[in-house]
Amino acid sequence: MNSLVRRSAQQLSLWRTYCVKHNAPEAASPGRNAGRPNYEEFIGRHQRQAQCSIVVQVSSEKSYAELYNYCSSFGSIMGAHHYCVRQDETLHYILLEYATSDEAAAAIGAGVTNGELSGVPVRSPFLWFRAAGGGRRGPKLVANTAPALLSLDGTRQVDQGHLLGLLRGAADIEEQVQQLHEHTRLNELGIRMRFLAALQVQQAIAGMFPAAQAQPFGSSVNGFGRMGCDLDLILRFDSDMGAKSPLEAAMPSRLVYHTKENLSNGRSQTQRHMECFGDMLHLFLPGVCHVRRILQARVPIIKYHHEHLDLEVDLSMSNLTGFYMSELLYMFGEMDLRVRPLTFTIRRWAQTCGLTNPSPGRWISNFSLTCLVMFFLQQLRQPILPPIAALVKAAESGDSRVTEDGINCTFTRNVDRLGFRSRNQSSLSELLLQFFEFYSQFDFHNRAISLNEGKPLSKPDHSAMYIVNPLEQLLNVSKNVSLEECERLRIEVRNAAWVLESEVENASVPEGDGQELSWGLLNLFKHPEKAVIRPNMFFKPRMVEVSDLFEQKEAGATSSTPPAP
Ligand code: CTP
Ligand code: MG
Repeated sequence: MNSLVRRSAQQLSLWRTYCVKHNAPEAASPGRNAGRPNYEEFIGRHQRQAQCSIVVQVSSEKSYAELYNYCSSFGSIMGAHHYCVRQDETLHYILLEYATSDEAAAAIGAGVTNGELSGVPVRSPFLWFRAAGGGRRGPKLVANTAPALLSLDGTRQVDQGHLLGLLRGAADIEEQVQQLHEHTRLNELGIRMRFLAALQVQQAIAGMFPAAQAQPFGSSVNGFGRMGCDLDLILRFDSDMGAKSPLEAAMPSRLVYHTKENLSNGRSQTQRHMECFGDMLHLFLPGVCHVRRILQARVPIIKYHHEHLDLEVDLSMSNLTGFYMSELLYMFGEMDLRVRPLTFTIRRWAQTCGLTNPSPGRWISNFSLTCLVMFFLQQLRQPILPPIAALVKAAESGDSRVTEDGINCTFTRNVDRLGFRSRNQSSLSELLLQFFEFYSQFDFHNRAISLNEGKPLSKPDHSAMYIVNPLEQLLNVSKNVSLEECERLRIEVRNAAWVLESEVENASVPEGDGQELSWGLLNLFKHPEKAVIRPNMFFKPRMVEVSDLFEQKEAGATSSTPPAP
């Protein structure tokens, strides 16, 4: 195992590049990540950006100069991003960011409905740029003053072959993990687009609910999202998200709104409201299509596709703890720079061996898997993450958050108050191997995983896998996981540990430049028969009749059942 620790000069320089790229001060510990925005700052910055932005469909990126020239008449354009949506044909879009929200509003206000095509005349940040009519040209182009068009086709997922090439060409497993994270995580444009989708919903109901907020949560904002991930959205009529300002708390207003009476059953009321919103989204919002209402689920949701953003959206109205859970995960990701690359690798591994699946079912979800990684990092002899109880203990009065249904989501938002500094110096490859070893021995039968305590507890019921929901501690995050799937996870982590151990035995990167060259993570991401695994007399390797799940999944195949063990 020690041979995995290759703290070469090359690795150190890679680390420094990584710090620069992530705008993180290089710190004494390889994982320490100081001086980054907290969750609320991150959310606030992206919400402001969205308010300053418009998305304009163009015939190709070549229209940029003309578009820039035209749209500059409404204000100063600070940045521009191009992306494509592939339907029957490739559609091109340019996201423009103005200096102020008023300028963006002026551009939107100047839009007109297309007289030739009938359509509901709804205003939104989604527009298209028509050719100048009757041979008229626009004013002389001033494109040389335009900011460079950033992220050409910036939402495209990294090409599979390209990614495999990068992993093949890496210096060691450490670098493979970093490359995987770097090239598959949700990029800046992806985040901007998700906040625009949220703003569109919020603005659509702003007349009746001026304080409404449509708030992204989940992997779009918690730092664990990959390119192409869904957008989880929570729509609230009031904007405080459970937080009361000290002034409001001390001096409640004496003027109280008359309101419609609530139905006695809160759940049926939410379902009725969502039904109504589903219709509104479907009938009025540009870009929104394939609206589906899933109102019987524990958390009722409306699913839809946004065709101008090429995005799947899950909208809920009653899952406020999900929003705060995302804040906890965001904080964990920020506490140590190893957390996200490690989690990305494990999520990718789980995807390639069919443990996770895009549709919900009796298999482990990405969220549960992420909880397993966080717990692993908490329970180490030299922990990399603190237990959530420590964050709760360090809370101050400004951190108080209680949801409408009385769930306490109070914890410190300032991790510096914890005084927690990890002394763990393990490399990513060591941690990866330790993760697989840890869960191949974990007693899922009797023990529950508690991120609150950072240690295992006795299992309170007979669920196959029990992960205490950190904010609603009577709930099990992984209640859906069947015994069969839990067993499959144990088998797969054991397989993975062997693959990685064999990499240790052949510590050097294999020589060769052919397409067949496979080592490190590449062996982890492929069928075990193709990987170099030590024969083991105690364990029968899995028999999955899929030649290369890695590639199939990447191509977007979504089967409703993962392959049988
Ligand atoms: N969540 C939760 N409890 C659950 C399931 C989900 O608190 N039992 C919250 C988490 O904050 C999670 C978010 O809801 O991040 C969204 O859930 P989901 O979309 O299932 O997971 P993501 O983390 O967004 O991962 P993915 O990329 O697979 O969508
Ligand atoms: Mg999600």
